[in-house]
Amino acid sequence: MNFKLHIWRQPNAKAKGHFETYSVANISPDCSFLEMLDILNAQLSTNPVSHPVCFDNDCREGICGMCGLYINGRPHGNDDGITTCQLHMRRFRDGDEIWIEPWRAKAFPIIKDLVVDRSAFDTIIQAGGYISATPGAAPDARNTLVDKHSADLAMDAAQCIGCGACVAACKNASAMLFVAAKVSHLALLPQGQPEAKQRVKAMVFAMDSLGFGSCSNTYACEAECPKQIKRDNIARLNRQWEAAKMS
Ligand code: FES
Repeated sequence: MNFKLHIWRQPNAKAKGHFETYSVANISPDCSFLEMLDILNAQLSTNPVSHPVCFDNDCREGICGMCGLYINGRPHGNDDGITTCQLHMRRFRDGDEIWIEPWRAKAFPIIKDLVVDRSAFDTIIQAGGYISATPGAAPDARNTLVDKHSADLAMDAAQCIGCGACVAACKNASAMLFVAAKVSHLALLPQGQPEAKQRVKAMVFAMDSLGFGSCSNTYACEAECPKQIKRDNIARLNRQWEAAKMS
């Protein structure tokens, strides 16, 4: 398969970026999107005047959340429920033109080309996305019973990999779905209860101070989340927040 790629190039956060056009040929339909970019970079590396395209990745299995790219106007491309590293070239047509951009949000400044700084998410987690009580050994943990429904909801929320697609998809660059998932997976479990109020306040304050926008209920975040985190978590976050404010 052959493709024409329009890729955002930007040397650093302060520089002005622009699209550059490249061609790649003889790409296997079974090639992943990131492997296709590897092939392009191998091509660019042989040219003394061109520089490989910087993009973030680690696990290439949909686990680490590092590989977020805007592909033809959608976070992680045109398939639902997958990350960029799980997207394959057979999902495109031979000869397609593909537009590839970084996440665009004030809280995620561009480091270089397609790589953005998502450390704002780390700051939110450091504000309260943990439990500080020791859970003890495995037999102690088994003594704390969790009903199946709550366990399922908590595990669904815990699937969030912090990729930032929710922020990139939102017209306000809101991080509500991310914070909601992180608050929910602890709030639904007994181990998360002692610090629940302090946690939600600290995480929401951190989110607001880092330049993320407000949620205006468009649910673009839910539609584009590769882990299909539900917007119900945002409702739970709002309930937790209201309860914490009144206490
Ligand atoms: S590289 Fe880890 S989720 Fe894509």
